[in-house]
Amino acid sequence: MGYFNRTKAGNERDYRFRFWRSRLKDWQGYWNEVPKQYGETEFLKQVGKTTTGISVSNVVVNAIVSNIVEELSIGREDHVLDLCCGNGLLSSKVSRQCAEVVGVDVSAVLIALARKYHQPENVEYFCRSILDPTLYAQLESRRITKICVYEALQYFRPEDLRLILRLARKILPHDGLVLFGSIPDAERLWSFYNTPDRKAEYFRRMAKGTEAIGTWWNKQELREIVENEGFSVEILAQTRTLHTAHYRFDVRIRSSR
Ligand SMILES: C[S@@+](CC[C@H](N)C(=O)[O-])C[C@H]1O[C@@H](n2cnc3c(N)ncnc32)[C@H](O)[C@@H]1O
Repeated sequence: MGYFNRTKAGNERDYRFRFWRSRLKDWQGYWNEVPKQYGETEFLKQVGKTTTGISVSNVVVNAIVSNIVEELSIGREDHVLDLCCGNGLLSSKVSRQCAEVVGVDVSAVLIALARKYHQPENVEYFCRSILDPTLYAQLESRRITKICVYEALQYFRPEDLRLILRLARKILPHDGLVLFGSIPDAERLWSFYNTPDRKAEYFRRMAKGTEAIGTWWNKQELREIVENEGFSVEILAQTRTLHTAHYRFDVRIRSSR
């Protein structure tokens, strides 16, 4: 029986259970509206890289990029697909280490910013949902070797993850790697909502269907989904430099076909 199917859950877990099943928020609408609240060059705020409303430091951004490059073993020959790339802040930095980056995001606002401010020659952006199968047909000739999905698995349900893996398999070579970076950890929900006020805010938002983060993933459930799709999985702790290390984890997946 899956973690979220247990019936004897306490009140707090019950709330997570209901959210897990209902997925109430319109994330596409959200990511087309929220970035407009900020200035055109407030790149970190536009993609939520903040702590208590303040943009994270360059040290943190550089640590995120180094982690992506290391965890995916990105080298000069690689063609990297950056799914849910946002405003291209990370895509453009990763592109310095590889042959090409293809960035995909469903937010027209963020893709416009990416094309305006984060557009090196070896990066191309597509404004599409990563759940759109026609996208992967279009990418088949791009010789993608690595896929990165940073701080975005929270916007998807288990059935979406299954679809993403099936679509990814169509374009990845044998032994191709996928990194799902910075996944909210269901077991550490209260490390994020860590004061009485924040906890109360969580319950208020849950009741309205506007919880801020999205899907809080259970590691075991995630592992089962990925392994059932025939990929191997490694769950990685985040380096402590990251502002998210106390409530998020990374997952590296290897395709074999
Ligand atoms: C927190 S931002 C992260 C952006 C970028 N990966 C980063 O770390 O800077 C999450 C992104 O996921 C994108 N997103 C959410 N659902 C999506 C979907 N179905 N297809 C493509 N992008 C999606 C949003 O538009 C948003 O840009």
